[in-house]
Amino acid sequence: MKKTVLVSGGAGFIGSHVTVELISAGYDVVIADNMSNCDMTGYEGVSKIIGRELPFIRMDFCDSQAVDKLFSDYRIDAVIHFAAFKAVGESVAEPLKYYKNNLMSFLNLLDAAHSHGGCNVLFSSSATVYGEPDQSPVTEQTPRQPSTSPYGNTKQMCEDFLRDCVKAYPDIKGIALRYFNPIGAHPSALIGELPRGVPNNLVPFITQTAIGKRECLSIFGNDYPTPDGTCLRDYIDIVDLAKAHVCAVSRMIDGKMKENYEIFNIGTGRPLSVYELVTAFEKVNGLKLNYKYADRRPGDVVAIWADPTLANEELGWKAERSIEETLASAWAWEKHLAETGK
Ligand code: UD1
Repeated sequence: MKKTVLVSGGAGFIGSHVTVELISAGYDVVIADNMSNCDMTGYEGVSKIIGRELPFIRMDFCDSQAVDKLFSDYRIDAVIHFAAFKAVGESVAEPLKYYKNNLMSFLNLLDAAHSHGGCNVLFSSSATVYGEPDQSPVTEQTPRQPSTSPYGNTKQMCEDFLRDCVKAYPDIKGIALRYFNPIGAHPSALIGELPRGVPNNLVPFITQTAIGKRECLSIFGNDYPTPDGTCLRDYIDIVDLAKAHVCAVSRMIDGKMKENYEIFNIGTGRPLSVYELVTAFEKVNGLKLNYKYADRRPGDVVAIWADPTLANEELGWKAERSIEETLASAWAWEKHLAETGK
């Protein structure tokens, strides 16, 4: 019998790509999303790619009764929890909004999973939990640093919620995937990142500048202690990232976990500077980007990249798409948005 995966936040950027990969790996998927940070573009794109509609429940994970009902209505073998707010700056300005939403939704999920006989829970965490590491690459053993934002705090707290629940309740198993910088879009250009308003993240800002929605990209800081003075990050292709979720879900469902709570870094292991990323984008897409150097962005870490060895060995997963393919896919997606008037 096919196994069913509940994807909370399944209409968003990462959720939509993960849904496609889960379906292609033979899982059934139930999508739940409150649409607070996206429209139906992601869901419709997924439907086109897989050639059918999936169960879609519009609901808020902060509504405990709705979450409980979801677990009554479906036999859920695993849940992947994406539903959360993710803007660092906004979280500093509105900490209560972030704490209420990101923590309550995950607590409701864990509570429902436990009261319905247990579940495999995959939490979408972030490299933000490492803060500014003393050195890179970081392994899963690298100590977490005190968070510099309420957003980062919620990622750390949710990891701890999961770890503690797994310890106390044998019917819950958990994996936290710590993403580095997810970028790019599906090769079909039917799903991708669709930020509301001015993008905070680098690649959507680049593609919006290239298409003319933004006048000029500001590169935040060129006097960092790095080879070219701009920050170093580990940019991970969104389809590669999505495939890591399939590996992690299978590991849980097939009973292959070595411990009941596991953490994996999901990155390439390759640092790239902002300047290198910008020039790679220009080269692969044959265009000139309007950019300038600006002041450092408060709160930015100088350099962080992953040691993905554990995920490579234990999940049997490896980042495969080249940065050129990824940046071409990001541009194809931006052009698709322009063609469809979005
Ligand atoms: C940011 C968050 C991180 C979160 C992740 C989600 C911060 C400090 N960190 O990571 O917690 O998990 O997003 O995707 O916000 N840059 C520019 N110009 C721009 C935008 C970005 O130069 O217009 C630079 C940044 O200074 C940084 C790099 O590009 O060096 C990547 O930035 P971004 O895409 O925002 O990701 P992170 O800051 O790494």
